[in-house]
Amino acid sequence: MSAQVSLSCDRIERYLGEEEERVHALRGVSLEIEIGSVHAIVGPSGCGKSSLLYILGLLDTPNAGHVSIETETVSHLTDDELAQKRNKFIGFIFQFHFLMEDFTAQENVMIPMRKLGELSDARMRDRAAELLDGVGLGDKLRRPSRHLSGGEQQRVAIARALANDPRVILADEPTGNLDTANSERAFELLQNLVHERGKALLLATHNPAIAEACDWIHEMKDGRIIDSQVRNRLS
Ligand SMILES: Nc1ncnc2c1ncn2[C@@H]1O[C@H](COP(=O)(O)OP(=O)(O)OP(=O)(O)O)[C@@H](O)[C@H]1O
Ligand SMILES: [Mg+2]
Repeated sequence: MSAQVSLSCDRIERYLGEEEERVHALRGVSLEIEIGSVHAIVGPSGCGKSSLLYILGLLDTPNAGHVSIETETVSHLTDDELAQKRNKFIGFIFQFHFLMEDFTAQENVMIPMRKLGELSDARMRDRAAELLDGVGLGDKLRRPSRHLSGGEQQRVAIARALANDPRVILADEPTGNLDTANSERAFELLQNLVHERGKALLLATHNPAIAEACDWIHEMKDGRIIDSQVRNRLS
């Protein structure tokens, strides 16, 4: 039996910018991400990794092609419905983390939970504390995020992405601002979630060691996936 496909895209085309600045950023990209697998996207700066993640994360819409969550194509959904799907189903870790800098670490992690509105305030607080503990920030829950280091802010952003227990995690250079020990720790945390809790992870990375530890590596160049390789066969 083949693995359950969780998120996929089919022949995505994306143009960005206006007139003479217009760039054909994605040129027919198709990809399938199954539950229980970790996928890396690698490729030179400007090849389209972030553009693709934004489309898969329902933060941007393609000019052609479509995105499906499980078996449902999302092209026909309204903006509100897309926002709802995104908040519940997808955890997004941005290349630039976009925290609310006056909010504490804990409040930042609670933002997606508040939007979803399924937990009491006390449960949101406990869950945020637990997630922050998981990224090594258990002692900095009440620190405003502007008083955290770049690497600590990135870890808050990782915890925030996991707030609503999403099935798919999309991560754009999630360990870009972290030192070696913390980037290994952050990657292992994400990898364990995938393998033990039945999630799927797609991450863009310039770190070859992280890419090698993924189950799949997709190589992008000039808006296309030019090679996809399985690294670690899952049993
Ligand atoms: N809003 C925009 N308007 C015009 N062009 C854009 C816009 N956003 C991205 N691009 C262009 O689209 C192409 C793909 O950009 P993208 O950010 O996806 O690259 P990337 O692979 O994520 O690079 P990096 O490794 O540096 O993060 C680049 O040529 C970039 O300049
Ligand atoms: Mg990028």
